[in-house]
Amino acid sequence: NKNLTILSIESSCDDTACALVQSDGTVFAEQIYSQKEHVEFGGVVPEIAARAHLSHLSTLVKKILSQAQLDWSEIDAIAATCGPGLIGGVIVGSSFAKGLALAQNLPFIGINHIEAHALTVRIPNISSVQVQFPYLLFLTSGGHCQCIHVTNIGEYQRLGGTIDDAAGEAFDKVAKMLGLSWPGGPALEALAKEGDENAFSLPRPLYGRPGCDFSFSGLKTAVANLLTGYENTDTLPRQLAADIAASFQKAITTAIINRLENAIKMVPDTTLLATAGGVAANQYLRKRLLALAEQYKLPFIAPPMKYCTDNAVMIGWAAIEILHQASNTNKLIDDISLLPR
Ligand code: KG4
Ligand code: ZN
Repeated sequence: NKNLTILSIESSCDDTACALVQSDGTVFAEQIYSQKEHVEFGGVVPEIAARAHLSHLSTLVKKILSQAQLDWSEIDAIAATCGPGLIGGVIVGSSFAKGLALAQNLPFIGINHIEAHALTVRIPNISSVQVQFPYLLFLTSGGHCQCIHVTNIGEYQRLGGTIDDAAGEAFDKVAKMLGLSWPGGPALEALAKEGDENAFSLPRPLYGRPGCDFSFSGLKTAVANLLTGYENTDTLPRQLAADIAASFQKAITTAIINRLENAIKMVPDTTLLATAGGVAANQYLRKRLLALAEQYKLPFIAPPMKYCTDNAVMIGWAAIEILHQASNTNKLIDDISLLPR
């Protein structure tokens, strides 16, 4: 396979990111701006996100080009997220990338954001093992929550997903009810350390049911019911908040592990359990994912945090995988150069 160098852009949510990535896994340069513009609203505001991508993207791209000191002639293609995501941001990033591609006469590769998350564990040197197909991925963030069997590049079997909220959304909403600031996941995990996880018995949605779909809205409602009378979070005793945080974290993790155990049983040929997404930063969840994998004698891989959350390195890597596969199957790059998959 030719050693490719890709300039990549990610702009599907609230991170404006770009990178220069090579086939051997070398990251020549990467820049990410995690938008602070949303903090005062307690969640991502799509219109504000799109405008923030617009104002930051060109500066960040200039930065990676000067950091990497690459000549345009050394770059083989431009890649950008073309969906799924907040459409305003997707349009800003992909149009910017297409403009660059036209100006530099380079191919443009549209990348599916979920596919990029799914292939991240295959970036060379990212983990102790070289990940081969097929493997099971639990993708869990503020926007996505699904379990995917990755059987090859371009071949993904969605075993199950959330039927209501994403897990990160549940963490954020419960954190808000406890008076913690956005994004609530990390704050809730910290507070849970001071609490008793057995203080409250909360529902574990879909526990024991077949399949590997997820549901978290009922759990969220159960927490809201516990907090009746404490709508003003200033009056909420800290120990009570900590006990609720710990009990919630245990309940949501127990539900997730039960669903993933079903997923593992659905794909007996799988070789590994991997996770990605912002919620994968949660140490309590990671510990229990590791224990589950060990129980089924599977290696467990969680990429470093900066590649679990949204980033442009994964977009560039997905483009590399797609281009290598295209050349191995004698598919013309032009066949895929202008269309998102
Ligand atoms: O992948 P990400 O950065 O952005 C997208 O949603 O695409 O994920 C952000 C989500 C937020 O909901 C945040 O609260 C959650 O990941 N999160 C956590 C933790 N760190 C981030 N949830 C639980 N525990 C954490 N330590
Ligand atoms: Zn994502």
